[in-house]
Amino acid sequence: MKGVILAGGSGTRLHPLTRITNKHLLPLYDRPMVTYAVEALVGAGIDEVMLVTGGTHAGEFFRLLGNGHEHGIDRLFYAYQEQAGGIAEAFRLAERFVAGDKVCVLLADNVFEHSLRPIVENFSRQNEGARIVLSLMDNDEHLRHLGVARMNGDRVEEIIEKPEAPPSRYAVTGAYFYDAQVWEVLPTLKPSGRGELEITDVNNWYVTRGLMEADVVDGFWGDAGESIDAYYQVNDFVRSGGVNK
Ligand code: DAU
Repeated sequence: MKGVILAGGSGTRLHPLTRITNKHLLPLYDRPMVTYAVEALVGAGIDEVMLVTGGTHAGEFFRLLGNGHEHGIDRLFYAYQEQAGGIAEAFRLAERFVAGDKVCVLLADNVFEHSLRPIVENFSRQNEGARIVLSLMDNDEHLRHLGVARMNGDRVEEIIEKPEAPPSRYAVTGAYFYDAQVWEVLPTLKPSGRGELEITDVNNWYVTRGLMEADVVDGFWGDAGESIDAYYQVNDFVRSGGVNK
């Protein structure tokens, strides 16, 4: 399975911090944010990785990660996203790298307390389709800033992006798993109200065809890019509890 880390975007919710650097280079406790995503993939057994980024600080990722070997990556590739056109647009840049394999896409501002390895293993055993990772959240305000799953038992019936009225307490985290059908879906996407190609539209394509599976994470999950408060909440957790365990 290949790994794709998405570290582009404009990071406006963390302005002015992100006026002077890329969000994923900001510190989480004692090292740059993106290194936690690298550690999550490597710890789950994925060592062929493409990092997608953009903007004026792209070169810093080379300085930080180099060829990836020091971080446990066997082969590290880079892609440059010209505009912050959305998560799905950034992911499209990895098509030739993924080359028809199964793929795990990870947003570089997402941090998980526990290893993704069991979920990667579940997807390895899955014959076809996609897989998402849900996190149970008790705070409605958080849920309104995320993708939220409408559930029927343990099946996902629909994902609603940034819902006014969250249909459940299951937030969709930024770890996504796809088979090769995704490369047929991506070119059909239309920009959303916020002018981006949405990963939620990709996921709903799989949901409506009955091809979406989901795992629920136990332990902490955080999106450090959601707001400045979320950034500090994730920092505090990383510092006191440690992640990718
Ligand atoms: O963190 C989980 C959430 O991530 C999900 O619950 C949502 O369903 C999903 O849409 C996404 O929501 P955000 O609003 O948090 O996405 P954001 O625009 O912050 O982008 C998340 C990451 O994706 C960002 O850290 C880097 C990458 N990205 C984003 C954009 C817009 C890119 O690489 N390029 C882009 O153009």
